[in-house]
Amino acid sequence: MQTEVIAITSKDDEELKRAGAVIRAGGLVAFPTETVYGLGGNALDADASRRIYAAKGRPSDNPLIVHISDFSQVYMLAEDVPETARKLADAFWPGPLTMILPKSELVPETTTGGLQTVALRMPNHPAALGLIEQAGVPIAAPSANRSGRPSPTTAAHVFEDMNGKIPIILDGGEVEIGVESTIVDLTGEKPMVLRPGYISRKMLQEVLETEVELDPAIVVKTVKACEPETKVTNEAAETKGPNGAAETKNLNGEPDPQKPSGAAATKEPEAEAQHLRPRAPGMRYRHYAPKAPLILVQGPAEAVTAYILKQIEEEKNKPIGVLCSAQTAHVYKDARRVVVAGAFGDLPALAHNLYADLRDFDEVDIDRIYAEDFGIAEDANLKEALENRMMKAAGGHIVTVG
Ligand code: TXA
Ligand code: MG
Repeated sequence: MQTEVIAITSKDDEELKRAGAVIRAGGLVAFPTETVYGLGGNALDADASRRIYAAKGRPSDNPLIVHISDFSQVYMLAEDVPETARKLADAFWPGPLTMILPKSELVPETTTGGLQTVALRMPNHPAALGLIEQAGVPIAAPSANRSGRPSPTTAAHVFEDMNGKIPIILDGGEVEIGVESTIVDLTGEKPMVLRPGYISRKMLQEVLETEVELDPAIVVKTVKACEPETKVTNEAAETKGPNGAAETKNLNGEPDPQKPSGAAATKEPEAEAQHLRPRAPGMRYRHYAPKAPLILVQGPAEAVTAYILKQIEEEKNKPIGVLCSAQTAHVYKDARRVVVAGAFGDLPALAHNLYADLRDFDEVDIDRIYAEDFGIAEDANLKEALENRMMKAAGGHIVTVG
């Protein structure tokens, strides 16, 4: 199949009619949103959803987000529309917020991965809204990457992953935010964030005037303090604890493809996390992974830099990549690839650049990547979102220094 890339400049662009017709006929169209690019198909057509899973190489039990262009569609797609949903829509739609509600009969289980709930979002992008209107149906769309790859933030990223698999990619330039929408589950007693994003829990709480929880299974726990001689010895980042035992941090306690077997593995997070399964199925998979293993180095900025420099020095024969801030980039002279994610502490820039940066590392042959933690500040809006994405890119491999 020939994949056509079509530039879209406004919601009324003529080309959106043609793309909308492709969706209506059961085909797939990739389109920009304010968060990341989506791979869209008719949400009410089980065959279209199957085509989405196939094009992404995605497990079919991982549900799709249904994108709408008008709030009235919520009543059609959800069995029950609580007051909280209306309040949040008033405050944040169109925008980077997805709400989980009980699904109506209209939504096929193929779209919801077999669940009786549906994820709904009204994206804030003229091309996305225009496409949904022209299609005349709600559009199911996961991020338009091959499963396990970083989400696409440009049409070129989509082309890399989807060329030959879909007929049309709508090009709206670089996305604005760069990390996926916040997912809030409104089906429980208390609203719960299943995936952190640009809309923080604080922002949700202010509108709902009630506590909003974070899915306990994705809470990022602080690793135990360790000695400065922390050393990476294998594919996984291991740290020597005060008792000399190696510690490996693994997000969610899920089986970890990068974790070395034997003595290096720790039991620490597993006992507790075994029964904590993330509620959003997609959060259970390894994600956003560059080809080379990525190790996140946390701690005071100077200690982080010193640690990474030491690794580069010690592993001189191996090509190393570093993801760092503009302030520290110049010190990593001997690294094979240095990618600057933005100014230290500039979380919007880090979010905006992160996935493109991870793809950038895939273009060179490197053994491993060390990522600085950028001082992801305590009270910043994007804190939980970035911690979560960095953890995922690292497959849970974190070294704490200083
Ligand atoms: O920003 C975004 O949300 C982007 C753009 C394209 O809109 N979309 C996106 O879709 O990130 P995707 O498929 O890559 O991620 C959807 C996440 C997955 O983790 C999935 O498991 C979860 O939403 N999800 C979807 N429906 C759900 C449901 N009914 N209950 C719980 N989680 C659900
Ligand atoms: Mg995705």
